[in-house]
Amino acid sequence: MPRPATVHVCSACGHTEGKWHGQCPGCGEWNTLVEERPAARDSGRGPARAGRAARPVPLAEVRAPRVARLWTGIGELDRVLGGGLVPGSLVLLGGSPGIGKSTLTTMALGRLAGAGRRTLYVSGEESAAQVRLRAERLGDGTMDVPVLAETDLDTVLSTLEHERPDVCVIDSVQTLHAPELAGAPGSVGQVREVADRVARVAKARDVAVVLVGHVTKEGSLAGPRVLEHLVDAVLQFEGERERTYRTLRALKNRFGATADAGVFEMRGDGLVEVADASARFVESATREPGSVVLAAMEGTRPLLVEVQALVSPSELVPPRRVVSGIDRNRLALVLAVLARHAGVGVGSADVFVNVVGGMRVDEPGADLAVALAVAGAARGRGIGDPAAAAPPACFGELGLTGELRPVAHGERRVAEAARFGLNPVLAPEGAGPKARGLGSLRDALRAALPGPSRAAA
Ligand code: TYD
Ligand code: MG
Repeated sequence: MPRPATVHVCSACGHTEGKWHGQCPGCGEWNTLVEERPAARDSGRGPARAGRAARPVPLAEVRAPRVARLWTGIGELDRVLGGGLVPGSLVLLGGSPGIGKSTLTTMALGRLAGAGRRTLYVSGEESAAQVRLRAERLGDGTMDVPVLAETDLDTVLSTLEHERPDVCVIDSVQTLHAPELAGAPGSVGQVREVADRVARVAKARDVAVVLVGHVTKEGSLAGPRVLEHLVDAVLQFEGERERTYRTLRALKNRFGATADAGVFEMRGDGLVEVADASARFVESATREPGSVVLAAMEGTRPLLVEVQALVSPSELVPPRRVVSGIDRNRLALVLAVLARHAGVGVGSADVFVNVVGGMRVDEPGADLAVALAVAGAARGRGIGDPAAAAPPACFGELGLTGELRPVAHGERRVAEAARFGLNPVLAPEGAGPKARGLGSLRDALRAALPGPSRAAA
């Protein structure tokens, strides 16, 4: 079969060239030309062809049969998917190398195979022997999963057509190669072509496909997020490789909400769901100066996490500001508000803030916890009454004038703290009768660190 000629299309201006150029001759931008098959392009962007007009149907008359979902048996994954995989759908699972994408997908296929589903694991990254070595540790049906170690797209698609599994994992989309495009595997043109052709087979044969994608340094999936519009759902596996906990979030989901997140723990025998992460974090929380329990939200679920701060004299100008699990700029804001509106200055000290267990809390509700942890560390005092059975919990956003501002789901956060007997719950006003409503950071400090203070060493 002669190889069809490909074209190179500028992703900035749409200019088309036969050959690849580093700089687009049309608009002068660099590195914007992407290789494409002309046929794929014509079908989408060509002039409208004469056709028979169709009759639009009122939504009320549209029949929408409920499709049975494919439960992977991994509760946190099913929940983030919005109730399991939808047959014929395409899911992109992204995450940095080593985070556990292969582990999670192998486990899911194992459970599905154990439940009598037809599965297929396509590995373009590892040999069949390597896949087996991982699977051996994961138990539960994983050894029944058929594996295909292959990087040629045509072979993979033919195998899909022939095997017609219910669920197929392609690990990873960047390793498959469409022979009719000249670009290297993983290039934008290749990745788009692979996903596009896999999607067609998935829809036609009702195969649920999970495409694994490595996240590049810039944090985008498979280069410039080229696949997001092509797939039905985008899941992101986050966390730090060396840390225990990982979170799975839906960034896009045609079949469910995107607010949900799942928490996993990486162990010697695979990923283990952490159904009650709050219990873990509360149990391990210390009452030492600089430790604060934050009632955070992980998607639509409340989650109690421990925020720790260390404040120590610095020889550096400017002093260190080191964060893990929160945004660095947010710490700068909290430190400024602490100094300006609450009389807690740490200008000549190093400040370290860490969310325990490798969790990330990128939400304004974390401000108060960070502020109390830093203030407690600076004053050498634990927050709350040391004689009380449980530590307080807190949440709230800091305004630039030192006020404490309400955040979403206040009552659910308070209820989660109450579930573990944390008392009081220091919160912005309006978070319900069970919380101690506070108007400003100054009030919160008074409630959390009453009495005279002992300066930090
Ligand atoms: P992996 O799933 O291969 O990550 P990815 O496909 O996202 O690149 O595994 C990630 C890491 O997890 C790997 O370094 C080894 C470790 N690991 C465990 O700790 N326990 C296990 O049971 C498995 C399978 C892996
Ligand atoms: Mg992998």
